[in-house]
Amino acid sequence: MRPTLADYRHIASGKVRDIYQIDDATLLLVTSDRISAYDFILDTPIPDKGRILTAASFFWFEHLGVPNHLDGGPADERIPAELVGRSMVVKKLPMVQVECVARGYLTGSGLADYQATGAVCGVRLPAGLGEADKLPEPIFTPATKAAVGDHDENVSFDQVAETVGADLAERLRDATLDIYGRGSQLAAERGIILADTKFEFGQAADGSLVLADEVLTPDSSRYWDAATYAPGRVQPSFDKQIVRNWLTGPDSGWDRTGEQRPPALPADVVERTRARYIEAYERISQQSFADWPDAQHG
Ligand SMILES: Nc1ncnc2c1ncn2[C@@H]1O[C@H](COP(=O)(O)OP(=O)(O)OP(=O)(O)O)[C@@H](O)[C@H]1O
Ligand SMILES: [Mg+2]
Repeated sequence: MRPTLADYRHIASGKVRDIYQIDDATLLLVTSDRISAYDFILDTPIPDKGRILTAASFFWFEHLGVPNHLDGGPADERIPAELVGRSMVVKKLPMVQVECVARGYLTGSGLADYQATGAVCGVRLPAGLGEADKLPEPIFTPATKAAVGDHDENVSFDQVAETVGADLAERLRDATLDIYGRGSQLAAERGIILADTKFEFGQAADGSLVLADEVLTPDSSRYWDAATYAPGRVQPSFDKQIVRNWLTGPDSGWDRTGEQRPPALPADVVERTRARYIEAYERISQQSFADWPDAQHG
């Protein structure tokens, strides 16, 4: 008999995920179908997005070859029947309070920092770089975790070292760049550019780093299609561009600069976005999403 969700204590909810405590040593991370765009959680979910992102995290945890927080498979008996496929049973770890970002390309807050200072998180870069340019080599650009509703704040390596100590800061940087290197190489072989990504690490009893949270999903990373990559302009997002284009296009009637929340998404935008998420997962994993475990009913 599988447990029900009522058997577990709800600990927290992020924008997209809900966290429950299974026991003192174990957590249940549940990924919903919620999608964000332009800093809003949209009213319209994307069916199966939670399962697709969970499938992607499992794939990466299996293939990265570094210690991770998983404590069971996607159909672990501790997962309530209706949440099978969108849940991870993980070891509850003391988390390092640093958002460990790796960037191989310049965009977003990295580009903004570079344009203002010539550096990103204190890492000096060559002059003359622009939107979506590939960096000479991937860089570690940590951020501090912001309170709910706020943006994470980019910080320098030295600031991380001051907070967590130089030794741990170096290990975070090395692990982040190592894992980003492994992930971006595999993705590149399959036609996807991982422009940047964010990892979170916990610590094992001996202090060693354990890759935690979600990993290399479209929610924690920028996925670009290598076939259409063209620096000098903002790259289309592999997963979210259909939603963004519709929201900012004439049919939505939404003013991005106003106060109003974005409107509900039409069915065809939802369906095409769902297909994009599946395509991203299948391209990278070379596995069929149809084979991924689904909620168990009855
Ligand atoms: N193995 C683990 N042990 C303990 N905490 C973990 C583990 N893996 C992930 N976490 C934590 O679980 C939480 C996941 O929550 P989530 O990402 O949904 O919310 P958030 O980070 O608060 O908000 P958001 O990501 O929506 O801005 C994070 O605080 C993350 O640090
Ligand atoms: Mg988070």
